[in-house]
Amino acid sequence: MTRVVAAEPFALREAARILRAGGLVAFPTETVYGLGAVATDNAAVRRIFEVKGRPARNPLIVHVPDAEAARSMVVWSEQAAALTQAFWPGPLTLVLAQLADSGIARAASAGLHTLAVRAPAAPIAQALLRAAALPIAAPSANRSGRVSPTTAAHVAAGLAGRIELVLDGGACTVGLESTVVDLSAEPPRLLRPGGLTRARIEAVIGPLAAAGDAIRAPGQLASHYAPARPVRLNATAPRPDEAFLGFGALQRMDGGVGLNLSRSGSLTEAARNLFAMLHALDREPAQAIAVAPISNEGLGEAINDRLRRAAAAAPRDGGRSGD
Ligand code: TXA
Ligand code: MG
Repeated sequence: MTRVVAAEPFALREAARILRAGGLVAFPTETVYGLGAVATDNAAVRRIFEVKGRPARNPLIVHVPDAEAARSMVVWSEQAAALTQAFWPGPLTLVLAQLADSGIARAASAGLHTLAVRAPAAPIAQALLRAAALPIAAPSANRSGRVSPTTAAHVAAGLAGRIELVLDGGACTVGLESTVVDLSAEPPRLLRPGGLTRARIEAVIGPLAAAGDAIRAPGQLASHYAPARPVRLNATAPRPDEAFLGFGALQRMDGGVGLNLSRSGSLTEAARNLFAMLHALDREPAQAIAVAPISNEGLGEAINDRLRRAAAAAPRDGGRSGD
């Protein structure tokens, strides 16, 4: 049985108890909902992979309250210090060489010698990390390959019956996963564009190289973040059998199924709405989802990355839980 409870103080204490006993708890961060297990508990971490249907070679992000906690797990550097000072807590994940005595379960890093660490900004995530008093490994709380959840209802739709508890903290404020930067390589590399823009990171540590080969970015498979319906990009108008996801002035006028990522053309608002609107349109009786063109500036880089992955997926039938 999966319970969905409002993230009140007593529920946070219970969530911490469940985690410390080896259970799985979904919780809100500012980016998306995470599916958490105590990162030092190998059996609990392995259950995350099982519940998500996630390939064992795709490592997880370890969540910590602050930079000081991260420093006990990874080899720190000037770049790590500069970035965490500027952007933690927040939507930035750093990949660094893992310390031999990090204490982190092998399953969390998928056996790699590096570790991804992030301090989330959302007050509920911070409160949970402090109540559990242990690092929490957490991927996005969706079945592998599906659209990430930005509400507790999205989590429940995908994972009900598979995990112990969902802490409901409302809709995520950023709406896109964290930006993943690999600092274990020189020059540093952008493994995944996300909720913190490339420009803000480059203003602190200089130019980022591209993601490069698949081994260093094991989770970056082409098909990911996919609704069950096929997705068609850069559409200026929907075809008769399509639902339409508009942006700015480009929106559906004929009364058919449609939503707008941001009427004012704000990329921040579009990022916040993207996954929820893909979830919503995926429930409509349409053959496909057509999406308006989005600028590639700022958060547009991450929005377009997720849209390309959604469009790259082979169409699957039905099953919002994705089995
Ligand atoms: O915003 C987020 O990052 C959310 C919230 C819950 O924090 N989490 C999230 O986790 O998106 P997940 O597992 O869906 O994505 C983590 C990404 C994957 O692409 C994974 O391959 C990459 O980070 N990653 C994790 N550890 C890595 C490592 N050691 N080296 C390279 N990539 C790594
Ligand atoms: Mg994910």
